[in-house]
Amino acid sequence: LGRTIVLVGSVDSTNSWLKERAEEGRAKDGTLVISKVQTGGRGRLGRSFHSPEGGLYMSFFIRKPDMKMDTSLATIAAAISARDAIHELCGIRPRLKWVNDVYIGDRKVGGILVEGKFDPVGRTMDHLVIGIGINVTTEEFPEELKDIASSIVNETGIRISRSLLCARIADNLEKMLRETIEDPEGLVEDYKGSLMYIGHEITVSSGGGVRPARLVGVDRKGGLVVRYLDAEYEVTSVISSGEVTIRGG
Ligand code: BTN
Repeated sequence: LGRTIVLVGSVDSTNSWLKERAEEGRAKDGTLVISKVQTGGRGRLGRSFHSPEGGLYMSFFIRKPDMKMDTSLATIAAAISARDAIHELCGIRPRLKWVNDVYIGDRKVGGILVEGKFDPVGRTMDHLVIGIGINVTTEEFPEELKDIASSIVNETGIRISRSLLCARIADNLEKMLRETIEDPEGLVEDYKGSLMYIGHEITVSSGGGVRPARLVGVDRKGGLVVRYLDAEYEVTSVISSGEVTIRGG
């Protein structure tokens, strides 16, 4: 990873930048693109990701990933890599909210967006783009984000270097992506160790409405295991990251 590094000042989205080049056959395996600012940073479920100066916005390109390295496990691998990199540099271990959010205290300081393209002819994945955004030294957040989003400096008082953070994340991700193939169970166990709301009551929102549930764990494919509390019988269900969001309490 990171054999080719592209540094830009501003781009709409580092994920889109790689996807566009992939469509034109111009993206090299392992490319890492980093931008100082994103004008159209994207999150999961079509949401936007506030990306002013002060954050680290980076995306990796993986050509023809092993089929075991699917989008869910790659998301988990990236979340663990970001968690560990932050821990290594500022001594604070963020928690992870299923499936792609990085939290310090009760505020989101980062997120992961993995996008993949399936090749229907070869029945394999053509490529994966793994995007990671971390609010590092951002101090001001717009009114509508103040209660939910924050940055490493605001939550810890520590001002870490974005380039060191980027290097640590790249190193960790290389290792963690190997784990998705060699030891997916171990990877998921590691993820579960930092998972927010495990054992707690949550609400699960999807197209079908909002349901109360207990968060039981995560299965070996990265799906969230829940027990719905409004069901007549006790059954455990697995939800995949598709269109679902969860909230504590
Ligand atoms: C989320 O909050 O749902 C995920 C946010 C992911 C943000 C990163 S920043 C680098 C990359 N480029 C994007 O447009 N998004 C990801």
